[in-house]
Amino acid sequence: MKTDFLVIGSGIAGLTYALKVAHDCPDKKITVLTKTVSDETNTKYAQGGVAGVTDFLHDSFDKHIEDTLIAGDGLSNAHIVEIVVKEGVQRINEIIEWGAQFDKDNSGTYALGKEGGHSEFRILHHKDVTGKEMENTLLEAIAKMPNIELLDHCFVIDLITQHHLGYLVTKSTPDIECYGVYVLNLKHNKIEKIISKITLLASGGNGQVYRTTTNPSIATGDGVAMAYRAKGRIENMEFIQFHPTALYEAGKSGQAFLITEAVRGDGGILRNRQGVAFMEKYDARKDLAPRDIVARAIDSEMKIDGTENVFLDCTAMDHEKFLHHFPNIYEKCLSIGIDVFENFIPVAPAAHYSCGGIKADEWGHSSIHNLYTCGECASTGLHGANRLASNSLLEAMVFAHRCYKDSVSKINDIAFMENIPDWNAKGTNEPKEMILITQSLKELQLLMTDYVGIVRTNVRLERAMNRLDILHKETEQLYQNTSVSKQLCELRNLITTGYLIVKSAQFRHESRGLHYNTDYLNKSELVQNIVL
Ligand code: FAD
Ligand code: SIN
Repeated sequence: MKTDFLVIGSGIAGLTYALKVAHDCPDKKITVLTKTVSDETNTKYAQGGVAGVTDFLHDSFDKHIEDTLIAGDGLSNAHIVEIVVKEGVQRINEIIEWGAQFDKDNSGTYALGKEGGHSEFRILHHKDVTGKEMENTLLEAIAKMPNIELLDHCFVIDLITQHHLGYLVTKSTPDIECYGVYVLNLKHNKIEKIISKITLLASGGNGQVYRTTTNPSIATGDGVAMAYRAKGRIENMEFIQFHPTALYEAGKSGQAFLITEAVRGDGGILRNRQGVAFMEKYDARKDLAPRDIVARAIDSEMKIDGTENVFLDCTAMDHEKFLHHFPNIYEKCLSIGIDVFENFIPVAPAAHYSCGGIKADEWGHSSIHNLYTCGECASTGLHGANRLASNSLLEAMVFAHRCYKDSVSKINDIAFMENIPDWNAKGTNEPKEMILITQSLKELQLLMTDYVGIVRTNVRLERAMNRLDILHKETEQLYQNTSVSKQLCELRNLITTGYLIVKSAQFRHESRGLHYNTDYLNKSELVQNIVL
C-alpha cells in the first residue's frame, strides 16, 4: 500500500494531525494505523483535563509558563514551554469548534480545575472523562473526512529505512530516511508493507513496562523502541512520572483506575494508615505539591508503615459538587464497595507518563528524515524532568499542529521510495510456548517496579540492567526463530523501553525531578539532557 501521510496512533496527537492535514490537502491520502480498536488509547482515559490559560482576569501566560518550568526542575526548554502555553489556547479553541464540550459553571464561564503544581485554576475538563470527550470528538470529525483511512488492528512492527535496502545504518549515519513501515495486520495475520512519503509517530506511552500503571494495555513503548532500532535519537527516558493516586485494589496488577489529581484540587486529603494527613511534613503546598513530591511522600509513608497503599479522604468534600465533577470515580469506587462520602479511598502511586521519548525539535522533526513525532512518545523539551499535570493533552495538540504545518509544506518535494523488499519471514516457525513470552513480561514488569521505581540506587539500576540483558538475549533469540506476533513484538519493545530507562538513569548522576537516586541526592550543576 502507498499513502502520502502515514500516521501511527489514533490518540489525540495522531488524530489532530490527520484531521488538519486532511482539511489542508484534500487531494492527498492519509492513513491512520491503530493497534487495537481506534479509541483504545491513553487519551481516552485522561481524567483531570487540559491545562490552558482562558481566564485572563486571574491567570496569565507567564504564570502557566512559570509553573511548567518549576515542575520541569531546570530541564524544560523555556522556548518550547512558551510555544506550548501560548499556542495551546488556539488549539483548545479549535477542538471546542470541532465539538468538544468542557464543563461550565452557572454563569456560563468555564469551570476550571486545579491540579498539583498549578498556581491558578486553569484546567478545562469534561466531568472526570475529559479524554474520552476529546477522543470521541476527534474520531467523529475524522469519520467525515473522505481522504482519511483509519485502519484498526494494524500493529506496526518496524520503520523502514535504508537498512531495509541493504545499507549499513548506524547512529552516525548522517541522512537516515523513513520510507514507511512493516505492519502486522491482525485481522488477516499477515505482514504488509506500507510505503509513505511522510510518517508521523504518535504511538503514546510505555506504562506497561511497570507492574501497575494507569495506562491501558496498548502503552508498550512501541514507537520509541522502533525509532531506537532505526537509530533515531531518544531523550530523557529516565523521567517516568508515577501518578500519586491510582486506586489500590489488593493483588491487582496491570491497568489501575486513576483517581484524578483534580479530586485533591477540590479538597481531597491524603492520609496514612493512622489517618494522619501527612503531606505538610513533606511540602508547604501539601496535597497539591507537584507530582514527583507527592508520589515520593506516599512512597515514604508506605515504607514507614509497611503498607501497600495510603488513603484519599473525600468525606468532607461537598457531596453534590463531587457527584457533579467526578461521577465516574464515584461509580467506580461504589462498584468495589467504597462509598467515597463514608470511606477513605485506598490509593497508591502507579506508572503514569513518560516525559522523555523520541527527540523532536520545535516542528516535531525526529532525527530521521520524513519522520515526525508528537504526543507522549515524543520528547519536545516541554516537560523537562517532570511534567506539570494536564500539560500533555495540550502539548499533543500544539505539536500535532506544528508537525502538520511543517509536513504539508514539504510533501510535494518527497517521492515514494520504490523497490522496498517484502517482510522476510524465512527460517521462522510458529511459537510453541506462550509461557516464554508471558513469563518474561512478568519478570520485566517486576524488575522495573522493584529496581527502577520512584526511588532508585546505583546497585538497583545495575541489577536491573543485568537482568534486562538476559531478557533481551532470550527474547531476541525467540524473535529470530519464531513467526512474529503482537505479544512477542510488544515484549521486545518493552524490554527496549526498560533498557532505555535504566541506561538513561545510569547516566544521570544527580537527583532531579522524577529521577531520584539516593546515591546522588543533589542536583548537578551541569544541566543536561540524556540522549541515547
Ligand atoms: P495515545 O492516546 O496513547 O495513543 C496512542 C496510539 O498509538 C493508540 O492508537 C495505539 O493503538 C497506537 N499505537 C501504539 N503502538 C502502536 C503500534 N505498534 N502499531 C500501531 N499503533 C500503535 N494528560 C493530560 O494532559 N490531562 C489529563 O487529565 C490526563 N489524564 C490521564 C489519565 C490517565 C489514566 C492516563 C493514562 C493518562 C492521562 N494523561 C493526561 C496523559 C495523556 O492522556 C496522554 O499523554 C495522551 O493522551 C497521549 O496521547 P497520544 O496521542 O500521544 O497517545
Ligand atoms: C489526573 O487527572 O490526575 C491526571 C492528569 C495528568 O496526568 O495530566
